[in-house]
Amino acid sequence: MTNSETKATLSFSDGSPSIEMPIYKGSIGPDVIDIRKLYGATGKFTYDPGFMSTAACNSSITYIDGDKGELLYRGYPIEQLAQNGGDFLESCYLLLNGELPNAEQKQKFVDTVTKHTMVHEQMQFFFRGFRRDAHPMSVLVGTVGALASFYHDSLDINDAHHREVSAIRLIAKMPTLVAMAYKYSIGQPFVYPRNDLSYSANFMYMMFSNPCEPYKVNEVLVRALDRILILHADHEQNASTSTVRLAGSSGANPFACIAAGIACLWGPAHGGANEAALSMLEQIGSVDNIPRFIEQVKDKNSGVKLMGFGHRVYKNYDPRAKLMRETCYEVLNELGLQDDPLFKLAMALEKIALEDEYFVSRKLYPNVDFYSGIVQRALGIPTALFTGIFALARTVGWVAQWKEMISDPEQKIGRPRQLFVGAAKRDVPAIDKR
Ligand code: ACO
Repeated sequence: MTNSETKATLSFSDGSPSIEMPIYKGSIGPDVIDIRKLYGATGKFTYDPGFMSTAACNSSITYIDGDKGELLYRGYPIEQLAQNGGDFLESCYLLLNGELPNAEQKQKFVDTVTKHTMVHEQMQFFFRGFRRDAHPMSVLVGTVGALASFYHDSLDINDAHHREVSAIRLIAKMPTLVAMAYKYSIGQPFVYPRNDLSYSANFMYMMFSNPCEPYKVNEVLVRALDRILILHADHEQNASTSTVRLAGSSGANPFACIAAGIACLWGPAHGGANEAALSMLEQIGSVDNIPRFIEQVKDKNSGVKLMGFGHRVYKNYDPRAKLMRETCYEVLNELGLQDDPLFKLAMALEKIALEDEYFVSRKLYPNVDFYSGIVQRALGIPTALFTGIFALARTVGWVAQWKEMISDPEQKIGRPRQLFVGAAKRDVPAIDKR
């Protein structure tokens, strides 16, 4: 962050003194106006619901240029990270440490993560307390928060070693917890991690194997899952990441902060979109019903949205969507599902929406979740678990952002202000006068 020579001056039409504010430049992206002294100098707040024009922190982890459709992890384009042979743990190392690992660093990181994949044996009793039909996100909010009860030796957020250990524990144990949530929901025994498998292969193994028969890992499907994880690993200051930062700003422990992030991710406008997109396709049912559905979407009073379309930041295209679309074809080919009716319906819907004036004029394009639901369904992941997979992928981003925040000397407890529009001070009337 460097000081710009340009300054911003805010003046008022009522003759109050104007105020000059510094402007900072990042390495790329928009400059920011430092308004921290605004309230002290003028007695006024800024008003920005939804943070449309507000940078809440400075960060060097992930950069998005929504107009160009560009997503960079530590400067590296997401296309190169997803297509050049590196796996999810390599992206994790990059997000956490700022640089890609060399062969030795990568091996050490993989070994460390791998040694933390098991969860405390007592965790299974938490699972057994949930109803069998509980939503996996509800199970994950509870069980990830509960990790804090088991790992007291890594809760001191002011100790860099504790922060490191918690980060590794969260990244290593999330696949185990997500797979346990799934196994519990179908009444199968929990499967312990296998440390001779890669991160993604081990997750598939914990999800789909059972003690009665051998399980063969399909490399094409493992690569598809790995790509889902890479594409969802971080996305700068989105709602769930901001939730993690806000929770962490009070000094809360990392397990509690990540549980808060999972809760936020659950919403259909955020991580719940892939589940909602698939339910929408199932509800539309057939290609013939698309025009009627599109009419409903355009009707403001219907409350119906085209799920998996639109993005707060990407206003041209979502670069992750392009990569996920590619994976979608690979997986369906591998499994011989090219004629899957739901996939055909999705492709027809995509085509119609991309040509429709309503969507074109509002710059609404398919986002990553439009395709990731179809891929996950083909992998055998049940719809209700889609957002859980997203949470598993995003854990590294949340952890990297949380760690960055803790070591930022400018960090303060997050405490937004408000424009109060309720009743001004008044007296409670006597009982007989009400
Ligand atoms: N279907 C129909 N209309 C839409 C959609 C949609 N999916 N998304 C936006 N619009 C319309 C809005 O009604 C609005 O129309 P108007 O100008 O006539 O009032 C216009 O497009 C602008 O929309 P906003 O809501 O202002 O856009 P915003 O940036 O606030 O919302 C969001 C972005 C929440 C992602 C929205 O597009 C949406 O709800 N999409 C569907 C849910 C979804 O797929 N979410 C996943 C996001 S990606 C992720 O989390 C990984």
